[in-house]
Parts: sequence; structure tokens; C-alpha cells
Amino acid sequence: MNLEKILKNDERIWDEDILDYPQLFELARTYDKELLENLFNNKDSKEKFFIQVGDSHVFKYNEFRFYLEENQVNNSFTQYANKIGLASQGEHLSDSTDYVLDWPYKDCVLEGGMSSEEDMDTFIEKKVETTPGKIDKKTGTVISPEKTEVTFSQAKRKREEIFYNNIIADKEIDRLLDKKALKNFTRYTAKGEEKVKEIKRDEDGTIKENLLIKGNNLLALHSLKEQFTGKVKLIYIDPPYNTGGDGFAYNDRFNHSTWLTFMKNRLEISSELLRKDGVIFISCDDNEQAYLKVLMDQVFGRDNFISNFVVTSAPAGTQSSTNVAQQHAYCLAYRKSKSFESFRHKLSKEEINKKYRDGTDEYGPYLLERLWKRGIGGRKEDVPSLHFPVYFNPNNDEILLEEEVENKNNLIKIIPYQTEGVLGRWTWSKTKMIDEREKLLVKETSGEYKLYRKKYADEEIGRLPYSIINSDIGRTELGSLELKNLMGDKVFDYPKYSALIKYFLKTGSSKDDIVLDFFSGSATTAHAVIDLNKEDSGNRKFILIEQMNYIEDVGKPRIKKVLEELNVDDNFIYFELAEYNEEAKSKIDACKSYKELKKLFTELTEYYFLNYNVSVKQFNDQLLDDKDFQELPLEEQKTLFKALLDNNQLYIPHKEQEDGKYNLSKEDQELTNEFYG
Ligand SMILES: C[S@@+](CC[C@H](N)C(=O)[O-])C[C@H]1O[C@@H](n2cnc3c(N)ncnc32)[C@H](O)[C@@H]1O
Repeated sequence: MNLEKILKNDERIWDEDILDYPQLFELARTYDKELLENLFNNKDSKEKFFIQVGDSHVFKYNEFRFYLEENQVNNSFTQYANKIGLASQGEHLSDSTDYVLDWPYKDCVLEGGMSSEEDMDTFIEKKVETTPGKIDKKTGTVISPEKTEVTFSQAKRKREEIFYNNIIADKEIDRLLDKKALKNFTRYTAKGEEKVKEIKRDEDGTIKENLLIKGNNLLALHSLKEQFTGKVKLIYIDPPYNTGGDGFAYNDRFNHSTWLTFMKNRLEISSELLRKDGVIFISCDDNEQAYLKVLMDQVFGRDNFISNFVVTSAPAGTQSSTNVAQQHAYCLAYRKSKSFESFRHKLSKEEINKKYRDGTDEYGPYLLERLWKRGIGGRKEDVPSLHFPVYFNPNNDEILLEEEVENKNNLIKIIPYQTEGVLGRWTWSKTKMIDEREKLLVKETSGEYKLYRKKYADEEIGRLPYSIINSDIGRTELGSLELKNLMGDKVFDYPKYSALIKYFLKTGSSKDDIVLDFFSGSATTAHAVIDLNKEDSGNRKFILIEQMNYIEDVGKPRIKKVLEELNVDDNFIYFELAEYNEEAKSKIDACKSYKELKKLFTELTEYYFLNYNVSVKQFNDQLLDDKDFQELPLEEQKTLFKALLDNNQLYIPHKEQEDGKYNLSKEDQELTNEFYG
């Protein structure tokens, strides 16, 4: 059986001609449909890896895995090769991909849709208070009867996140992640706002607009999936660090498992949006860095790790810490695949002046680079063809090769030495020396003549980005100062500094790329994109997602301000994932009896998987049919119903947007259709 042949068309498991075993194991482990079909459609592999049970066939995962383990040698299959190594359940530990980060609820989807800043959930509490009756002991007559008072009230508790299990709740998950209707489309320029008349696309049909999207990022990312899969060049995110009660204005209190599930869900979908040569940067700190690194290894692949940038965020150190004065945070970077190459950063004018200062001629300032090789590989016998003499005429500074010299009198012969007394070799060939003769220069130091090349400032290719990011762009306060200066007031806690994000944009994006940030906060990423576009005449586009209402008072106005202050002729489209809450509330208002109210609520519950919300489920199970509740005045019932809706972001599925009950405007429907292409 030739497994390579059977699987040859599955691009996902080939890295050029090399079979990507971890990927193949992973596909088999997750019973990937395409893989199983390929195996099933071949007679030999069907016989080997499937067992027939009644009319069905069952994939024998362990046998498939064992077969791979047994036959894998130097990345080719031979029937006879065996390996010795630690094994577990028939699997060699050295090859196992099973060293994975595991945590409770890993196989779940976490909507993580906090709509209130306090992250609190409303529930309805029924209280029954009984006051014992009084009886006259002497006469045995009842003075006052036993009294029972029933009250219903809204109460708050910390939101219990709902983990939708991948298997148990697959229908709910499908529905949760279905693309959503979009509404309130508005185009903003530095000058003001206007209606969105069209959504611009490039010649390949890719949407080329700056987008600011309000809504839960998991659902928004899934809504973007169809249009942006494989289109995004760079993702920058700054998720909640999971610091545990540090007074952040946004939700930052995920516990560890929850945080990991929350991140895994979002990283997986966002990795699909990245281009093959794309890259993702994630700000974090020691609270989760180590776990995030392992999670990223799993989602993006260990080989795709680029760097764990150290960001000097508090150069003076935080003396309020317990053991160590923390001075840094991190930014983890992973590429989508080997196709990514980080860009070199241009040097500033001052850096260029400092570097190119050995001289200036008609081609500009230059530095001198020696032309003889030092160190390893620098001896004559290492490359004999590069050991030859060069002749220098000190009267006219001419530099000639042996073949060009007629009379060696008065010429100085220069030969390369690796080190003193050890014959060496040049780094340039004779032809290169002839072709680029104007760059050659001989310098005399203490009677010794040496050959150099002039390297001109305009040959500067920049430098690779440093992994330690200095406080001049990393310092946390700079972000706050920048935002305060721009907006005239403190409007957001701990925004990043746009120059820091620019550093990452310079490392991983070029002029026409799409940049995504799905933890937008104060929209610093948009600021950085606009700024860098201005600097290098680029046309990068940003896509930003933020769920909180402060998108209105912080994100949106900030981007407008930046366009205005930088005098940039660009614009962005704002829209929201269309919520159903408001409509649902007016429907509640319209109910004329408890019967109608109950019917509507049951409908909402079934329709919008509200029943997965702990409070709503409890309400459904315990209160909806409660006699006492039914006896409450209608208005009170309505208030309690609405309170429950408050903390559930119900989004309208795109495929149902035309349904009159949602009240979605024709214009929004049309733009949503246009957006989804
Ligand atoms: C650390 S802040 C980002 C700050 C940002 N880098 C800046 O410079 O302003 C994280 C942001 O992600 C948002 N966020 C958290 N969970 C989210 C979710 N599930 N959907 C959308 N946004 C979310 C928070 O509301 C918060 O504004």
C-alpha cells in the first residue's frame, strides 16, 4: 500500500514534498472528513484502516496511527523500518504529538459575550416569607393567621459563562457561529459621517475598506470568515491579560481555564483569516505568557514561532510588586507558515548619519567594510580562487588587478591575510572588484595598506527588528499620554502606544495589506495603521472589533481625530452585528397578557438558545409556570422578562434577516448582503 500516493492530493499535509506528520496525526485524531474519504476511497487503505459494522464503516484510528509510527523513516515510508523509543499505547513518545496543553472545557466554545462592564448577570429571585400565625393560648382562637408573602425581584450575580461543548451542543455552536446580519452602517471621514453607498473591493473581489465593527469578537470573526479567509496579512491583539482584579475597565477576570478556552476559540478562527505569509502578534504578560505560548504552538504549530518580544513597559520597575520590580511585558509572534519573512526596519536619519560616517563622495556618505575575510573560512586554502593580489597606486589612488597592470613599479601590492601572518582571501571576486571598482578604497594605517569597500547610505537595507523593545515605545504611560493628548481627557485605561503597534506593523506588513485587531479597545491599531500609511504612503486597511459601548465614545471618535490631525484623506465604515435585544424588548412591551408573554418568551428561548444561559434556563425551568409569578401584574412581569434579556446579546442570523420580526431596515439588509458578497 502506498500511503503517500493515496494522500498526495491533500495539500494540508504536504510541506513541499515532505509529509507533515504532526498535521496528519492531528487530522486523523480529529477524524477529518477529507482524510477519511481519501483513505476510504482506496481499496487497500479501506481494508486496512476501516472495520465494517453492519452497513457502516468505522475508522480504526489506533491502527492508522500505529501504521504511521511503524513505517515512518526519514520522512518516507518503508515497510521494514522499525524504531526504538519510548512508547505509550503503541505510540513512540518521541513522535507523539500528544504533548498538548490540556485544561477543563478545552473542547468547548465560549461566547465570552459580556455586555456589561461589571460582568454581572441578572436573575430573578423568588422569595417566600412566612410569618407564623398567632393563637390565643387560653381560648385557642386565631389572633392573626399565618401569612405567606411571595416576592419576585431582580438580583445580580457574577456571570456564569456558558461552555458550549463541541459535541453535545454542536447545533447551538453552529447557530452561535453562523454569520450575522449587520446594521447601522456609517462611513466616517475626518470631516463627518455619510451613508455607506457601496463597499469597495479590489480587482480580486476582496473588501478593501477600513472597518470598525461593534460586537462579540468570536461571532464577528466567524462573520468575517467567508470574506477574509486567507486575506489578512497581520493580526495584532491585546486581549485581557487575565491579571485577576486589577481594576481594568473591561472584563479581565477570566479564570485560567476559561481564559484559555476563550483564547483558543478566537485564535483558531483568526488563524484561518491569515494569509499564508501572515503573522500574528499577541500582547500578554507573565500571567498567561507560558500557557499562551503552548496554546499557540498547538494552534499555529511550534515551527511557526517567531519571537517572544520583551516589551520594556515599566523601565523604573513596579516597586509595588511582591518580589521583583516588573519592568516588562511580552508580545508573542507566530507566523502562519514558512512563507512569512519579517521585514527589516528602516534606520532613522540620525542612525544613518551615525552609521555612515567614514567619508562622503559624489555618491553620498559611506562606511568602510573590510574586503578580507576574518574568522572561519577566511584562510587562503578555504577559497583559493579568492586569494589574489591587488595593486594600489598611491599617486592617483587607482586600484588595479594583476591582469590590468603593465608596470608594477611604484605600485603597492596588497594581499589578503586572515590574521597576522596567515594568508587569507577576499570576500569579493575579481569580476566584482572590476565591476564595482568605484566602491574600492585603500587605506593606510601604520604603514600597512588595506583594501576596503565603501558601503553607501542608500545601500542600507535596514535591520531585523530587535526582540527587546525599548521603553521609548514600550512604556505603558506613553499610550495613555498619547490618547489623553488626542482626546483631551482620560477616556480609556491602559491603551497601547501607537508607536509600539507601528513597530509590529513595520515588521510584518507592507503597503497594501489588511491588518486585523479583534480586541480593539481604544482603536490604537487603527491609529498606528493610519500613521504608518502616512509615513510610507501605504494603503493598509484595518479591521477592528470591539464589543463594548465605549466604541462610541473612544474608538470611533479617536479614529476620526487621527484622520483629522494627521490630515489624511481616508475613511472607515462602522457597523454592528445586528442585535435582537431591542426588538425583543419592544415585542415584550407589545404583549397584552401573560399568555402572550409566555409564548413570546418560550419562542425566544428556543430560538436564541437563551436556554443555555444559566439565569434564563433557571427562569424557564422554575418560574415560567409558577402560579405566583403568573399572578404578578403584567407590567412587573414584563420588567422582569426584560431584565433577563439585558445581558444576553442576541444576534440576528444573516439567513433570517428578512424576517419581519427583526425589524431590520431594508438598507441594512442590502448592505449586509453586499458585505457577504
Ligand atoms: C486590553 S484591551 C485592548 C486595548 C487596546 N490595545 C488599546 O490600545 O486600546 C482589550 C479589549 O478587548 C475587548 N474585548 C474583550 N473581550 C471581547 C469580546 N469577546 N469581543 C469583543 N471585544 C472584546 C475589551 O472590551 C477591551 O476593550
